[in-house]
Amino acid sequence: MAGAETQITENNVTAKPKSLKDIRLPIEKDLKEFQLYYKKALKTDVFLLNQIISYLLKMKGKEMRPILVILSARLCGKVNESTFTAATMIELLHTATLIHDDVVDEADQRRGFFSINRIWKNKASVLLGDYLLSRGLLVALDNDEFAHLKVLSNAVKRMSEGELRQLKASKMLNMTEEKYFKIISEKTASLLSACCKCGAISATEDVKTHELLGEIGEHLGIAFQIRDDLFDFGADDVGKPKGNDIRERKITLPMIAALNRCGILERKKLMRKFGKRNKSQQEVTDIVNIVREKDGIAYARTHMDSHTSKALTLLNHFPESDERQDMLDFIRFVTTRKK
Ligand code: IPE
Ligand code: IPE
Ligand code: MG
Ligand code: MG
Repeated sequence: MAGAETQITENNVTAKPKSLKDIRLPIEKDLKEFQLYYKKALKTDVFLLNQIISYLLKMKGKEMRPILVILSARLCGKVNESTFTAATMIELLHTATLIHDDVVDEADQRRGFFSINRIWKNKASVLLGDYLLSRGLLVALDNDEFAHLKVLSNAVKRMSEGELRQLKASKMLNMTEEKYFKIISEKTASLLSACCKCGAISATEDVKTHELLGEIGEHLGIAFQIRDDLFDFGADDVGKPKGNDIRERKITLPMIAALNRCGILERKKLMRKFGKRNKSQQEVTDIVNIVREKDGIAYARTHMDSHTSKALTLLNHFPESDERQDMLDFIRFVTTRKK
């Protein structure tokens, strides 16, 4: 444990949260290197694939997962080839799941562009997702990185379980808070946890440190998904459709909280509104307003902040350093981000 004077306290986390641009600064060189690995992994001679992949390379995301792999490696040791292999695998797997997710969620926008399914339709999207998934796992084999392969195969399995559990719970409209947390742990925190763990694996042999980083990533991942679910109720332009969860009858934490705060009749009425298919924009807005009135947003924020605090407390196992500060800034960014 770090000495008391180096502990992360409310005092040193009250400074203004950093932007993603600032967070990238200390690792800019590593990120450039990662991008080279990533582009190389996507090279193919298949004409149709090449066409979609050039589009894919243009619609870059925030690269939060590669950033997290690199920050974790720096926290535990030094960034090296194994770090880049892990970051490449993870960004490929993440992109694959987003392409599949947009088919499942019938979303027509992603990363500020038309989604792949909007342009190339569902069939090509499913196949492209499969291709990226297998490419991601093969990167590990090409580099004899069995530890990464083990962690990431397990994460991908958990992501699929989470997506299926969510699909079932949404269809039956029988979501509970407990189920919600299980789902987001599986579908999102599993991969963020894997980012931290693989970053650690690439930089140290200490198994306890691998586990610790895995745990930090798990809390971070839960906070990350709650933030993402809050976007659906917000006004910010995040480059993907808003109100989509409500339209698709996907119950998330703000809605669960609002429902729990309703009387029996009120609850029935809200469920009826929510359960309706093909809602108009006005109907979606009405639901957002009810969730706001019931403080569902504030409730979700409280849970989000509590997971961030847990991640920060675990970070105290590391002594004070620039690397720890950079990780702290990232953790704070996850919940303060605007997209
Ligand atoms: C979106 O993740 C998928 C979720 C787990 C909510 P990001 O918001 O990190 O997506 P990109 O990579 O920046 O587009
Ligand atoms: C993201 O889930 C996909 C995975 C975590 C596998 P969501 O459907 O909640 O995310 P967005 O909002 O479309 O990015
Ligand atoms: Mg989804
Ligand atoms: Mg989605």
